[in-house]
Amino acid sequence: MGSYGMLARRAVSTEAPVMVQIQELLRGIKGAISLAQGVVYWQPPKPALEKVKELVWEPSISRYGADEGLPELREALTKKLREENKLTKSSVMVTAGANQAFVNIVLALCDAGDSVVMFAPYYFNAYMSFQMTGVTDILVGPGDPKTLHPDADWLERTLRETKPTPKLVTVVNPGNPSGTYIPEPLLKKISDICKDAGCWLVVDNTYEYFMYDGLKHSCIEGNHIVNIFSFSKAYGMMGWRVGYIAFPMEVEGLAPQLLKIQDNIPICASIISQRLALHSMEEGSQWVTNQVKDLVKNRQLLVDALSPLGEGSVKGGEGAIYLWAKLPENFIDDFEVVRWLAKKHGVVLIPGTPCGCPGHVRISFGGLVEKDCILASQRLKRGLEELVKDGML
Ligand SMILES: Cc1ncc(COP(=O)(O)O)c(C=O)c1O
Repeated sequence: MGSYGMLARRAVSTEAPVMVQIQELLRGIKGAISLAQGVVYWQPPKPALEKVKELVWEPSISRYGADEGLPELREALTKKLREENKLTKSSVMVTAGANQAFVNIVLALCDAGDSVVMFAPYYFNAYMSFQMTGVTDILVGPGDPKTLHPDADWLERTLRETKPTPKLVTVVNPGNPSGTYIPEPLLKKISDICKDAGCWLVVDNTYEYFMYDGLKHSCIEGNHIVNIFSFSKAYGMMGWRVGYIAFPMEVEGLAPQLLKIQDNIPICASIISQRLALHSMEEGSQWVTNQVKDLVKNRQLLVDALSPLGEGSVKGGEGAIYLWAKLPENFIDDFEVVRWLAKKHGVVLIPGTPCGCPGHVRISFGGLVEKDCILASQRLKRGLEELVKDGML
């Protein structure tokens, strides 16, 4: 039993999920505080939760729904996409979260053996989705050393010189793991490069509402662009599993391919979750921005906690819920640093290696209320001071 020879190479050669490893680490250390998982500390809007409580006895809740999502929810999303995101030529498919949306898109757009493009530091689950669907030729582009913005010149060169042309380019905006925001002109430039090369662009907008310091998130649309969204963070609905795809309605044949995959994975997103999503939307995006605005305090606490790493070591954080930090030169093994910080200082981060950048760490500032974040940042600062001064004793 257990012979690897009996298992799919596709699965075996996919990276291990870093979050599962980190959850194990957390379980093993009593009282450890997590700055690891990309979560928010709030729950969905109370009125929305109250409404779904009433719904459990309705027979429709226990039945399958339309594969592409509840009509009322799709209608509300179409309106939201038009008014907030300025996406007017997109169809909506509701999925069991943005991660399932991404797998659905990869299966609909890429063949095993195709090449695709990501930028470092990249979102580890997107990388794994490529690997497990046989898209193993993953070209990883650089980010600007200061801003971490995707390098558009590299992209242009790579799409021109790689034969056959890569099938798909993906970016997260604002980014996971870095929290870097891609300004609209750059996003547009990336889109034009993809269009000219005949290549798809998939933009993950999971953190569309998580923008700080007066920055505004924007989306772009085109017949080569697919946008992904999520209810998980915005409405505190991580465990309810609802996301959606906005795909170009003019591209013939795309909807039926997405439906084939949908019908074989979730069939439909959980009906009660979709109803909660709909009622949450009734509270309006203002509800979300109200939740998000106080996260800048957590971000500031953690920027200060990271100061022992020295000037220029901390990047990103202008959006999403993440800061991205470079460890001192001699600490390339970020997993070891993460384990040491957890065991010795009771604070848990995400190592950078699964995002394509050894010697880095990701710090999430979304999951803790301010009081707990103060404690976490004290522990982190003490740990990093010790790391820089004496190493991992
Ligand atoms: C960029 C990005 N995409 C997708 C997801 C997954 O979201 P969902 O819970 O909607 O599957 C996350 C969660 O951390 C994320 O950061």
